[in-house]
Amino acid sequence: MNADTLGGIPLQRIAAVFAAERESYVSLHPRSLALAGQGIAGFYQGVPMHWMRDWSMPYPFLVESARGAVLHDVDGNAYDDFCLGDTGSMFGHSPPPVVAAIERQAGKGLTYMLPTEDALEVGRLLAERFGLPHWQVATTATDANRFALRVARAVTGRPKVLVFNGCYHGTVDETFLRLANGRAVNRPGLLGQATDLTQLARVVEFNDVPALQAALAHGDVACVIAEPVMTNSCMVLPEPGFHDELRRLTRQAGTLLLIDETHSISTGPGGYTRAHGLEPDLFVLGKPVAGGVPASVWGFTDEVARRLDAVRAQTPPGHSGMGTTLSANALSLAAMRATLEQVMTPAAYAHMEALAERLAAGLQAVVDQYEVAWHVARVGARVEFICAPGPLHNGTEAEAAHAPALEQAIHIALLNRGCLIAPFHNMMLVSPVTSPAQVEKLVRAFESVVASLALDLDSWQ
Ligand SMILES: Cc1ncc(COP(=O)(O)O)c(C=O)c1O
Repeated sequence: MNADTLGGIPLQRIAAVFAAERESYVSLHPRSLALAGQGIAGFYQGVPMHWMRDWSMPYPFLVESARGAVLHDVDGNAYDDFCLGDTGSMFGHSPPPVVAAIERQAGKGLTYMLPTEDALEVGRLLAERFGLPHWQVATTATDANRFALRVARAVTGRPKVLVFNGCYHGTVDETFLRLANGRAVNRPGLLGQATDLTQLARVVEFNDVPALQAALAHGDVACVIAEPVMTNSCMVLPEPGFHDELRRLTRQAGTLLLIDETHSISTGPGGYTRAHGLEPDLFVLGKPVAGGVPASVWGFTDEVARRLDAVRAQTPPGHSGMGTTLSANALSLAAMRATLEQVMTPAAYAHMEALAERLAAGLQAVVDQYEVAWHVARVGARVEFICAPGPLHNGTEAEAAHAPALEQAIHIALLNRGCLIAPFHNMMLVSPVTSPAQVEKLVRAFESVVASLALDLDSWQ
């Protein structure tokens, strides 16, 4: 690839578009500038959570409100929201059944470390929907993964987990590795890491069956943790037969399989697992499962439960390393029940799937029209444009496909055209309340941005 281009676009052109879009952003957000442009007092780095600085705008706008798939800022701008809280609000902001459940529960106590009647329904609904008999509720997907991995180690008596290069499963220590020249190393950005994570994990490329087989052959891997589709770098889809081999080889090696559906729940009401007949031993879902109220769930098979019981019978009581005080609180159970019963419905998913297909086709048509060598990938309601040729096969290819400066320019340009997409990569989610007009507007905005980057390229080269 030409060193003076990114995604086929000259760096000079990208810089010019970015600079112009940042200027527009500032002119569109004077109130946010006055209130938060120098950082919000009292907060490290000027924001309540440092990821809020990871957007491409010079300073974040302050949100005034959000409803359905539209978000309003304090400057009076409205955005069609395709970021949807990076999946936390993938069923739309404040779904009415969730709001009603929160209102009902709010006057009756929020947390008591005891179950409510909602728990009776939630347990039944989780087992029915995802096909696993045993469940626990946690507060974040990170926590759920951490607890599930602890169980995997406990019941197998093995020390290591296996992760796929380029994965993200939350801030779970033993998943913070990557491959560098074929060797596992701690992720370089990791702060305060006192242990060498390569002692806790093996790393192989997604879709690489021989490497997986070789890694499992050591006999020390308690659990493979996998997203069914890699969504946390540029999107990587599984090759035909990969999941069958993953399951066959893990069973053969006595290794448990944890499927993390936190993002791939975009596939359907039972996630990718149900849609494609996967058979995980452990299952995790976080982010949107309570409609935006912090909550996650993790489930497991009878066999895992039986082995866990046996381990617990041999272990002194207290401090299991699993659970947090506010987990499974009454508010989150009420919200989760409403989400499972009334929001994550087959009808909602049918709408999401059809519109996401339309969005992907619209974006691909723009890519084709302007002859940029990019591509569009999709898993259900989750769509991504990638500023490199595809399809991608593994984490190394996904990392190489990233074009941060170009992506930043596109993100802020879309924002200035009233369309919000996820900041970390080029992810767009279609919710049950996203309208065809919103999808059409995003495609047209994308076209206008690609045109500003790619038109008359010959005259730049
Ligand atoms: C697949 C997957 N698992 C887990 C997580 C962690 O979620 P949380 O940050 O809510 O703990 C994420 C976050 O992006 C994710 O993408």
